[in-house]
Amino acid sequence: MSITVRVPAKVNVQLAVGAARPDGFHDLANVFLAVSLYDEVTVTPADELRITCSGPDAGQVPLDASNLAARAAMALAARYGITPDVHVHIAKDIPVAGGMAGGSADGAGALLACDALWGTGASRDELLAICAELGSDVPFSLIGGAALGTGRGERLTPLEVGGTFHWVFAVADGGLSTPAVYGEFDRLAAGADVPEPAASPALLDALRTGDAAALAGALANDLQAAALSLRPSLADTLAAGTAAGALAGLVSGSGPTTAFLVKDEDAARTVAEALLASGTCRTARVATSPAPGARVL
Ligand code: C5P
Repeated sequence: MSITVRVPAKVNVQLAVGAARPDGFHDLANVFLAVSLYDEVTVTPADELRITCSGPDAGQVPLDASNLAARAAMALAARYGITPDVHVHIAKDIPVAGGMAGGSADGAGALLACDALWGTGASRDELLAICAELGSDVPFSLIGGAALGTGRGERLTPLEVGGTFHWVFAVADGGLSTPAVYGEFDRLAAGADVPEPAASPALLDALRTGDAAALAGALANDLQAAALSLRPSLADTLAAGTAAGALAGLVSGSGPTTAFLVKDEDAARTVAEALLASGTCRTARVATSPAPGARVL
């Protein structure tokens, strides 16, 4: 018997970053929006815990115990006194190390799949608590839709979204390390007064009313300068996307994927083609939001 869970990628429409905390994390006001690019995580009983991955970028995914899907299976098993003898297969479609929470998606997906396979009866809150131990973005992968994340991003308040937003994602060559981008943020902020992170009322309004032009005007990512500093070529990608007619572009999370909000499906196709032709990215993906969270297929 196998269980398959489908789980979405995310874009941060606002990522407000505070000063580094004593534990090394940063307090955030992180407005997550799930988008329609999905990984599928399948778990099957096996002799021992084993991870495999398929898809064009599978070679970049670690298959050892550092994989969040492996850690999720082990965390749930430990809590319920189960031996985590499962084969976890990840069919990967979310860009790897791209700032779109692909690893977090696999963690949330494996957790939900193992929970269904083992019939633990864990509550939603228990699953969310395990997600938060696995990583700051993992709880959002479980719930999907749109949410404001506070603390290090793991404390979620679901948000209303009043329409469908259209996106193009420009996938860069290679990944960026999230800790390295936060480290660069700290270096750039050294000596400056970093304000308390707060969600933008204009941005929350734009989400609630489904107003793409208003959302475009409110998109903000405090990690963007740090990602651009580590990967200056992303400025060319951002310029290519906006020149092609995107309403706005920004770095997705810690990058290096860049996200372009567009008016509609036609604009998405035009911008994706222009981005590819510009030679400033490896590939361009079209998606919509909001998308549902992790769910058993
Ligand atoms: O929580 P997660 O394991 O995804 O975080 C990865 C790294 O990103 C952390 O080790 C930290 O360097 C950085 N981070 C941070 N503040 C956050 C979330 C992540 O500094 N709120």
